[in-house]
Amino acid sequence: MNLTAATRLAGVVGNPITHSLSPVLHNAWLEAAGLDGAYLAFGLAPGRFRAFVDGLRGGTLAGINVTLPFKTEALAAADRVSARAHAAGAANVLVFGTDGSVSADNTDGEGLLYAFARQAPGFRPDSGPLVLYGAGGAARGAVAAFLEAGCPEVRLLNRTRARAEDLAARFGDRVRALNTTDPGALSGAAALVNASSAGLGPDAPPPPDFSGAPTTAVAMDMTYRPLRTPFLKAAAARGLRTVDGLDMLIGQAIPAFTAFFGQPPPAAADVRGRVLRLLGEAP
Ligand code: ATR
Repeated sequence: MNLTAATRLAGVVGNPITHSLSPVLHNAWLEAAGLDGAYLAFGLAPGRFRAFVDGLRGGTLAGINVTLPFKTEALAAADRVSARAHAAGAANVLVFGTDGSVSADNTDGEGLLYAFARQAPGFRPDSGPLVLYGAGGAARGAVAAFLEAGCPEVRLLNRTRARAEDLAARFGDRVRALNTTDPGALSGAAALVNASSAGLGPDAPPPPDFSGAPTTAVAMDMTYRPLRTPFLKAAAARGLRTVDGLDMLIGQAIPAFTAFFGQPPPAAADVRGRVLRLLGEAP
């Protein structure tokens, strides 16, 4: 790496941040493209986000990715908000204009659909209901992306039903909350997406019973540690096609890279293989 005074800088901001794979992705692309750029990780104390962003106004950095727990604050810190960031209620990308402005975007939904396109070729989000596990920030982004892509119906299954109802109420008729035990919850589903942050340890909830889902349904888990989660294993055992969360990470990073560095990442760079090796997963 040859850093110069002209090196274009970007980064990711979160807390904790040391686990972030974004620097691996972006720096691999920068290297493959031969660009004079660098991408760093910033761990920020809670309460410091707004001051951090305001200090960067004017273009010290080209932009930042934002991860937990700052995605909602990122939306509030921006002067301009894209329609999809507004719908998701959160931003994962902030771009700094040389005029001092901050523009917010949300590329997570694009990443979600990219993952489906890569791993479930031919899947159409408008072909049937989405069953979504979870009702937090990640779930909200998924609802927005699927509705935008023409999904006719979203069924929210969440541990806390009231939270699913609150989320459904934000979106109108096509989205409703169901009980996790509702026998018909999975019937006719085109997609089953896990957006719950439930851990994978011994206390983790068991994966859903997928026997009520059609075998044509595609199951996707936003978690990529491990790549084959209990959710995806249970879906595969039912004979469903599965999509892992790593391509969602890559898919949200592609438009972010383009916004920061002015050109799309080189398609030939095998960032998925690089990350799989880092995670100790066989490529
Ligand atoms: P994120 O921004 O990642 O979506 P969040 O807003 O904190 O995080 O939402 C976490 C989601 O994971 C919620 O839907 C939560 O369910 P509750 O609304 O009932 O809290 C879900 N979740 C977390 N831990 C869980 C567990 N052990 N079992 C089931 N669901 C869980």
